[in-house]
Amino acid sequence: MAASPRALFRLVVASARSRVLLLPPPARPLLGARACSTGAQFHYLAVQKTGTQQNVGLIQLNRPQALNALCEGLMEELRRALEAMENDPQVGAIVITGSQKAFAAGADIKEMQNKGFQECYSSGFLSGWDKVSTVRKPVIAAVNGYALGGGCELAMMCDIIYAGEKAQFGQPEILLGTIPGAGGTQRLTRAVGKSLAMEMVLTGDRISAAEAKEAGLVSKVFPVDKLLNAAIACAEKIASNSKLVAAMAKESVNAAFETTLAEGTRTEKRLFYATFATDDRREGMTAFVEKRKAKFTDS
Ligand code: HXC
Repeated sequence: MAASPRALFRLVVASARSRVLLLPPPARPLLGARACSTGAQFHYLAVQKTGTQQNVGLIQLNRPQALNALCEGLMEELRRALEAMENDPQVGAIVITGSQKAFAAGADIKEMQNKGFQECYSSGFLSGWDKVSTVRKPVIAAVNGYALGGGCELAMMCDIIYAGEKAQFGQPEILLGTIPGAGGTQRLTRAVGKSLAMEMVLTGDRISAAEAKEAGLVSKVFPVDKLLNAAIACAEKIASNSKLVAAMAKESVNAAFETTLAEGTRTEKRLFYATFATDDRREGMTAFVEKRKAKFTDS
């Protein structure tokens, strides 16, 4: 079962006690009715702002009866939540998580079962998922349990993946007579190399958190109950820097996946020069010289 928002809050507070991480009660509407353009509440997500500075956007996938299978309604809400966080100047980084049993068990198979080619093609089925990979603010996936198919692809659309030690990653679409359709063959291959990606995509076999760490798919592995706090702590660290410059850093790292080394280093140089047009670059270097902590203004 996925944790309810209140249970999630208790879990986070309990495991945060030794780390002095203060979180708001989940009852506080994070990006709920007021912040969302549609004004609607979320049905498949629990969404809140957290961290001592309230500068981390936390999205919990909350469809426990289907192991967070990514139905169209859930993905639509996820897009809305991400958009609200993009537009919230207080939020400097975003964490996406699921339950202890499942980050997400894939796209919703029951929803896909009777679709035909024409419907998929004409409607651009799954194209809305791209929103996750085009968010400018840094996004961390905190993965406990299953991250399968579209769940693994969703995690890979994020910028950083932290895993709980019982997490399992896989692209089992081949067992359903299809192939990954939201970047699995591309992002997995770039992350873990051809041989392991081919093996996972062609057999449908899963890998453990430890194997994912060894292969470079995830950056850190934590005990199950420590994962979320670790992800939030990382997000807080990121959010304490200049949001403007963090977006530039993210854009530059992402260029490494999309272009040649020569073009990528040119992109990097342009963005590096661009930081010299910001107040935050001046403040960061001045603070160093004056031996004080920088006060970034995201300008
Ligand atoms: C719809 C799903 C689901 C999914 C689980 N459920 N995964 N429903 N789509 N992807 C539902 C089950 O039908 C069941 O509901 C409930 O969640 C619990 O699942 P169980 O199978 O009973 O749980 P368990 O025995 O613990 O097995 C867990 C599991 C298994 C190993 C994760 O559920 C599983 O193999 N799921 C499918 C994983 C998968 O193939 N993912 C790729 C999907 S294709 P009911 O009501 O029936 O009891 C995909 C394409 C991506 O992602 C293309 C681009 C996005």
